[in-house]
Amino acid sequence: MILGVAYYPEHWPRERWETDARLMQEAGISRVRMAEFAWHRLEPREGQFDFGWLEEAINLFGRYGIQTILGTPTPTYPAWLHEMYPDIHQVKSNGQVKEWGQRQDACKNHPGYRAYARRIVEKMTAALGQNPHVVAWQTDNEFGCHGTARCHCPNCGRAFRSWLRRRFNNDIAALNAAWGTVFWSHEYDDFDQIWPPMDTADRTANDGQNPGLVLDFYRFSSDVQVEMNREQVEIIRRHSPGRPITHNLMGLFHQIDYFKLATDLDIVSWDNYPFLANNTNRPPAPLAHDLMRGLKQKPVWVMEQASGPGGWGSYAATPPPGQMRLWAYQAVARGADMISFFRWRSCRWGREQYWHGILYHHGIPQRRYEEVKQLGAEFRALSTELDGSEVAAEVGILYDYDSLWALETQPNTGDGFDYRAMANGWDAALARLGVVADAVSIDADLTRYKVLIAPSVHVCPPATAERLAAFVRAGGTLILGPRSGVKESEGAIVDALLPGPLREVAGCYVEEYDAFSQIPGLEMRVRCPANHLYRAYGLADVLVPEGDAEVSHRYEGRYYAGKPAVVRHAYGKGCCFYVGTVMEPAGLIGFLRYGVLPGAGVAVLSDLPECVEVSYRSRGGTRYAFYLNHSDAAVKVALARPGFDLLAAAAVGDSVEIPPFGVRIVREGGL
Ligand code: GLA
Ligand code: ZN
Repeated sequence: MILGVAYYPEHWPRERWETDARLMQEAGISRVRMAEFAWHRLEPREGQFDFGWLEEAINLFGRYGIQTILGTPTPTYPAWLHEMYPDIHQVKSNGQVKEWGQRQDACKNHPGYRAYARRIVEKMTAALGQNPHVVAWQTDNEFGCHGTARCHCPNCGRAFRSWLRRRFNNDIAALNAAWGTVFWSHEYDDFDQIWPPMDTADRTANDGQNPGLVLDFYRFSSDVQVEMNREQVEIIRRHSPGRPITHNLMGLFHQIDYFKLATDLDIVSWDNYPFLANNTNRPPAPLAHDLMRGLKQKPVWVMEQASGPGGWGSYAATPPPGQMRLWAYQAVARGADMISFFRWRSCRWGREQYWHGILYHHGIPQRRYEEVKQLGAEFRALSTELDGSEVAAEVGILYDYDSLWALETQPNTGDGFDYRAMANGWDAALARLGVVADAVSIDADLTRYKVLIAPSVHVCPPATAERLAAFVRAGGTLILGPRSGVKESEGAIVDALLPGPLREVAGCYVEEYDAFSQIPGLEMRVRCPANHLYRAYGLADVLVPEGDAEVSHRYEGRYYAGKPAVVRHAYGKGCCFYVGTVMEPAGLIGFLRYGVLPGAGVAVLSDLPECVEVSYRSRGGTRYAFYLNHSDAAVKVALARPGFDLLAAAAVGDSVEIPPFGVRIVREGGL
């Protein structure tokens, strides 16, 4: 277990560095991440490099036992580079230029930007890559943040055309057929006629342009980030071999296919700001943790973790005593081996003056520092137990960026039918039952899972359908969500009864689909086998079972009242459920608890209090259960198994009390 913090030596007088190092050491912090925004201090004039100050800081912290993770400084760029290339900016889909002044705003396909970015990474890694205190690298910082993953400038136009030429083997007829450009006379005679999708007559590019074009542009834009990352990874590997390379991802940020990006990284890290989404007495949604861990099906680092209230203009409520520590343990419970806070000390100037660090602007250690210090002592003590342990999930959630993007450009309807909301809904329902899921891609090792939940396989190439069917044939339980099997990989709708290539495994077909949520005031419901009624949202796939498939839930409402909403189909050694609509949380929980998990052999915890989250890490035959109380009141919870409470250093039996924002880590079994 490692505790770290983001530190910006360039923000503070040199005389202060030593005080900071000492305070960090006393708090048990053993990693600092530095330099990811320091391009101008590292290359103050074109071609003049200065790594001396950074090396001095690295060595100083090293003397205090604090090792450095270095960030390459390419997310922001010096004014002199801007001056050299007035066209370095990104362009929005409405043609507006994203002016200099924030970050991530250089076009990644601008040859000048790319060349200078490569050069500073070369120089930096050559200068510092062998320093014994440099133990890992972060490429850039949060690729795509602030809506910068998609650029519509002329450079990107050129790069997009080359990307398309490769994808379609230089065959414009193939592109025309795949995108269906015959519609509205949009056929191209040559790749050179293609542009990134720009805003149209009265619509944005996202909802005005050909969906095939938009989907491929989203894929291309994601590939650009992946390629930029890979370029830096290769340079770092050359000059600084043996140090793990990571990038700090943004959880559920959706404009980059994180599975692709992660293939070039040694370890996934990410930035965790739970207060952005949650300030209630309930657990923050676990999906971001489960996706980050699922990217490589491996433990992760949290590169940035909220260290106080954050905000750029106004800011979030201050995490009450214990909550920062609790969020850190939530991340550990869900697979993080390092928690690094953002940031050490609140900056006195700049747009992030109010994105608070562990210390306020004055730099005097106070309550939040003491909380981090407590965590530091605990991490040291827990390391012997938890190092090398991993989350072993029995359930997978199929997370698919193509489907997400196809639904981004054509959401079908609103009110609950949203890719991330649906994935979140399933994951949160599992969490209420004490079940942990990895969010994974279709290419992951699916044999680890007893149950695989696909929120919507909206884009379903034949290989995906085949892998899902194979999963079920081999004994897995598959849940398919609404609007599955609808689109081919380039965005055309299949020429078959839905769910197209998934019909055989699903054991049913879709007779009609209905976006009932477009009717104001209409409340759709489904009736479960135990005769409870649950609200349904979004839309309804009205199902017809085939062969020996059985109906589980039925619709209550509209002209298809009484018709199947959920169908169960035994197939090979496993079974598949097609769930034709979006059920309210209680409906999902009931369905999983009684309809799905017992048959699949996944144990659940019943009656978990709403404020309590449970997750497990295992090593060898030993399982560690984490019980996290996300409320400001003490709560009593029944344990999955008795064992030994590691933090309290005491045996625990059938139940324990958890203090407000408290955590219990139970090594299960005998002492
Ligand atoms: C992100 C960035 C940091 C900082 C914080 C707060 O996570 O990586 O540089 O900007 O957000 O805004
Ligand atoms: Zn561009």
